[in-house]
Amino acid sequence: MTEEAFHIPQNQVISVSRRLAQLAAMMPEVAWAADIGTDHAKLLALLIQQNKIQRGLGVEVVEGPWQTALKNVAALGLSDVIEIRKGDGLAPLRPGEVQAVIIAGMGGKTMTGILSRSPEVFQSLQWLLLQPMSQAGDLRIYLQKNGWKIMQEDLIEERDIIYPILLACPGAMPELTQWQADYGPILLMQRPPMLKKLIEKDLKGMQEILKQLAKSDHEDSRLREQQLLIKCQQMEVLMQ
Ligand SMILES: C[S@@+](CC[C@H](N)C(=O)[O-])C[C@H]1O[C@@H](n2cnc3c(N)ncnc32)[C@H](O)[C@@H]1O
Repeated sequence: MTEEAFHIPQNQVISVSRRLAQLAAMMPEVAWAADIGTDHAKLLALLIQQNKIQRGLGVEVVEGPWQTALKNVAALGLSDVIEIRKGDGLAPLRPGEVQAVIIAGMGGKTMTGILSRSPEVFQSLQWLLLQPMSQAGDLRIYLQKNGWKIMQEDLIEERDIIYPILLACPGAMPELTQWQADYGPILLMQRPPMLKKLIEKDLKGMQEILKQLAKSDHEDSRLREQQLLIKCQQMEVLMQ
């Protein structure tokens, strides 16, 4: 993993992955932002260092990472601007307390669960910065159905896996096709080189499944094969 070093107050240096650096680059400037599942709290420290946020609130549900976050923030001399709370998702936040919420490094379904469990906080937000590890399609559909609009999207590769990053704000977004949900409406419009790489990877995965299906005598396997072949053909067109 490529790491980048950043200087923060009192000449402290922190190293962050390219993924965290890209998240910080896409973060809008707000007074107060919360990072849900903050773990090491490095992202909040970086955002303070870059003057993207004036105050940070880290939320962590697990004891070990919560302790790590507290320790890191204290070691960096940022305890007066970054508060770490223990709890589940948005529950430790009051509605209107922060303008933006970041959720990174979790599955898309975990993220929609976190947002659904605290509707008052969710609806009070101006920005959501999300980096799902999986199920990005479910997450995009959830945003659209709940009156959120994707404003910016990017793809970042870490340890041979390509992850999307989404910046969304309240607003109407047209209903998404399955392709737009899976690969991102903005990414499909902008077509960055990393999108082609992601579709190629998915296509390879599906070709592997097709090889396994070809070995099976099951009647259901023929139907699944037909469906996958059509999807592969459509993905080849999508890549052009
Ligand atoms: C894989 S780590 C990602 C850490 C960091 N956000 C990043 O992107 O580098 C996920 C973190 O989220 C925490 N987490 C998972 N579900 C959570 C929830 N419902 N509320 C708060 N934290 C949660 C986990 O304990 C873990 O520390």
